[in-house]
Amino acid sequence: MTEVTGKTDPIQSVALSDDGGSVVILDQTQLPNREEYLTLTTAKEMYDAIYYLKVRGAPAIGICAGYCVYCLARQSGSEDYDAFLAAFRRAKDYLNSARPTAVNLSWALNRMEGVVLAQRERPVPAILAALEAECRLIHEEDIAMCAAISRHGLTLLKDGDGVLTHCNAGPLATSRYGTALGPLFLGWEQGLRFRVFADETRPLLQGARLTSYELRRAGIDVTLICDNMASIVMKNGWIQACLVGCDRVAANGDTANKIGTSGVAILAKHYGIPFYVLGPTSTIDLRCPTGDNIEIELRPPEEIREKFYREPMAPSDVKCYNPAFDVTDHRLIAGIVTEGGICRPPYEKSLAALF
Ligand code: MRU
Repeated sequence: MTEVTGKTDPIQSVALSDDGGSVVILDQTQLPNREEYLTLTTAKEMYDAIYYLKVRGAPAIGICAGYCVYCLARQSGSEDYDAFLAAFRRAKDYLNSARPTAVNLSWALNRMEGVVLAQRERPVPAILAALEAECRLIHEEDIAMCAAISRHGLTLLKDGDGVLTHCNAGPLATSRYGTALGPLFLGWEQGLRFRVFADETRPLLQGARLTSYELRRAGIDVTLICDNMASIVMKNGWIQACLVGCDRVAANGDTANKIGTSGVAILAKHYGIPFYVLGPTSTIDLRCPTGDNIEIELRPPEEIREKFYREPMAPSDVKCYNPAFDVTDHRLIAGIVTEGGICRPPYEKSLAALF
């Protein structure tokens, strides 16, 4: 049973080790049963941690990638700028190939590369110092962005509201309050009481394992439902708003998030419930015109056929289609909540105005 602390003290999912040479993550695949920390030192350990969702959630992936590429740059051992840059790019490209949909991964790695390029006239130790400062800054900025998103998001809710969320966009997936869960934690601290319904989020159960864990830990009222129960709780009149996170927001407002999110948005439209996307500007990709340009990650069939079951729950050779994300049409989104405020349609204008 999850310990209810009644506190919203942050769970820290990613950090640089004390000696600055490794990345320490809370292994999210072990939750809610075990709080186990992993130390990532090699490129393969870092790639695997991202690929296997030991660290997950778009902002947390970006923060982790920043720390990882810094640690790998330290290991390159080269004093020559060109050799250092070449090794940096190899590490960057390898990490970047771990997952395709969340733009924060390439966003953070490109930001780190920008530092290496801007400091080209300086000695390698000075470049490393600048890289360390940059990855720490990425993390600090995310903390500030989540706090601002939480404040803006809270203006959309009132005491007693029922809120449905999908996947996990809380502290584990970000830093501090999280994005979609941020207004709920902030409201709780201010004495507001919400009734949260968390979709379990098949196939990897981020809602069951992580969202319900985080909310229970804080003492927030959460009810876990299977994904196919969202319609009935909406029909019952229990949901006044849907809050979800995002992995990439296209310039027109189309939004990629965990598979099943678009179905929630379609249901919300049917029942006249506002559907909000919450995410930092680091998740907005203005170079991506529409959701059709977002690459959707496909994952192994085992995640559907057998993972989490005591024995396989499907014929071992049945074909599976396992997209990890889907795209919600911008016309279904009532607002996109960022640290810069709440963007409303038309999103081409309101999103561009943020930058
Ligand atoms: O596959 P995951 O668990 O990384 O997917 C995560 C999501 O879809 C989240 O909703 C999204 O990254 C936003 S996290 C603030």
